[in-house]
Amino acid sequence: MSGEATGARRTGALYGPGVAHEHHQAHEPGHTHGHPEGHRHDHHQAPGDRDWAEFGARLQLEGDVAMPIIAGAIARIAAAAQADGLTVDRILDVGSGPGVAAVALASAFPGASAVAVDASAPLLELVHDRAVAHGVGERVHIEVADLEQSLDALGAADVVWASMVLHHVASPVDTLRQLHDVMRPGGLLAIVEFGRGARGSLPVGFDVGNDGFVERHGAAVTAAVTEHLPPGAMTLDWPALLAAAGFAVVDSGELSLSVPAPLDATARRYVLQGLQMSQRMAVDRLDADDLATLAALASEDDERSVLRRDDLTLDVDRSFFLARRA
Ligand SMILES: C[S@@+](CC[C@H](N)C(=O)[O-])C[C@H]1O[C@@H](n2cnc3c(N)ncnc32)[C@H](O)[C@@H]1O
Repeated sequence: MSGEATGARRTGALYGPGVAHEHHQAHEPGHTHGHPEGHRHDHHQAPGDRDWAEFGARLQLEGDVAMPIIAGAIARIAAAAQADGLTVDRILDVGSGPGVAAVALASAFPGASAVAVDASAPLLELVHDRAVAHGVGERVHIEVADLEQSLDALGAADVVWASMVLHHVASPVDTLRQLHDVMRPGGLLAIVEFGRGARGSLPVGFDVGNDGFVERHGAAVTAAVTEHLPPGAMTLDWPALLAAAGFAVVDSGELSLSVPAPLDATARRYVLQGLQMSQRMAVDRLDADDLATLAALASEDDERSVLRRDDLTLDVDRSFFLARRA
């Protein structure tokens, strides 16, 4: 069966011959990207030692919760494309995970095909069902590829979307140059990255535990994420990197979502999952009282669980850069 016909063009080592990118043979699992000794930045492994199914479900839930942000960014891409007279035939969602944005982009650009590109074949397995559920199964494809290797085989693109992935690569400017080279002249690259706000799953001022718990929890999560990523990854100068790679920024800004209390079930589940993931990150970074508070909040059953808190709010913030390929 031709995967192309079903919207699931499957390449990569897990899918047998005819591969464009043998990503799984490109690195030994656990490679260090040249980071300081002892630092393991391993994109074959989901953060916090989670399995791929769990990580994929998390990314899907996050995408659903953050959809207003994604839709807002896509509207800005569409406006820029229209202003430029850019015909959008082919879109790449690089570091797509389960392809939430690839599907949203295919929906927003009905004349285009979209390719979800990721180093993780198991995450790409989730793309097809989502694309079919959104009525774009024929126009959304998948490709296993490593953004730290040559991207020539990805083929030309008019729009490239890179959300929360470029901070993972050892040399963002090299990856940006690779993306530059696969894009058609005048093509648009959208980058979504960490926002300026605090990390952690709880709103500032949330009344729980000992004084300062929310701040200490946020700091612990930030420390764990920082340690997991290449040095400096959370404070990269995207306009400078884009310029160095041959792009001109045409639009940028903060993308924010504030969901008021009481949260619906989806948003509560998202916060709960974030807290559960943070338990592994915080275990050596919080004292016993704070860990007990976190355990109660992250429990499905405890009466102090965030599932039962009607005063819980949710803030998501991201930075957005839209750049034109020269
Ligand atoms: C934090 S997730 C972001 C997923 C999605 N773009 C989003 O915004 O929700 C990072 C994704 O980048 C992928 N990734 C990390 N390093 C990569 C690399 N070198 N090449 C390709 N994909 C990579 C991971 O497998 C994961 O799916």
